[in-house]
Amino acid sequence: MLLEFYSGKKIVITAGPTYEKLDPVRFIGNYSTGKMGYAIAEELANIGAEVHLVSGPVHIKPINPNISLYKVESALEMLDVCTKLFPDCDIAIMAAAVADYRPESYEGFKIKKSADELVLRLVKNPDILATLGSRKKPGQLLIGFALETNNEIANAKEKLVRKNADAIVLNSLNDSGAGFSHQTNKITIILQKDIIFEYPLKDKQLVAKDIITCISENLKN
Ligand code: C5P
Repeated sequence: MLLEFYSGKKIVITAGPTYEKLDPVRFIGNYSTGKMGYAIAEELANIGAEVHLVSGPVHIKPINPNISLYKVESALEMLDVCTKLFPDCDIAIMAAAVADYRPESYEGFKIKKSADELVLRLVKNPDILATLGSRKKPGQLLIGFALETNNEIANAKEKLVRKNADAIVLNSLNDSGAGFSHQTNKITIILQKDIIFEYPLKDKQLVAKDIITCISENLKN
């Protein structure tokens, strides 16, 4: 069933954080390790999918030699690679923790310590998931992630509709052992048809298996 669904499919996966440069030696980033996106990439490559992994700066490497890796740093770079890969892909899974804002300006030199206060102006980054959602064609599937701290299900459902995704994988920060820097994760998958699947806390490799199984059993492309 899994093999039949995924074999030969072109799948774009984003993973890791984005770094938004302030000057040559500083950036705004987050604690994402990329483990969840990389685990999904491995599972899919192992069953014969054509995997394109677009990764922010992380300390891990793909294991399966068939994974095509695109290393990026900023949200704008990630958007650029994703929009090039998306038109002829079958499934896109956006597991990256993309920075919502970037510094308005990039200083080509190291910012000097002088005044007691330093004000940074940030501008909004494009939403990669929503951009792909607005370009989605029949036959393509788009999966997003969400990390919520309150009104989790309601917020995730709203994201699903607003970003035109087919599923949102929700991880709650309220569950210990779930989210960013852990080897384990606890997810809830929300599907278009108001169908919700809850899973217990598991190793991220097993969570990856649950995600790809849920997609293949409940979504069509
Ligand atoms: O809106 P929020 O950031 O919670 O949405 C999370 C989902 O949107 C994730 O799938 C993430 O990869 C994606 N996202 C994105 N571009 C952004 C912000 C989030 O693709 N600028």
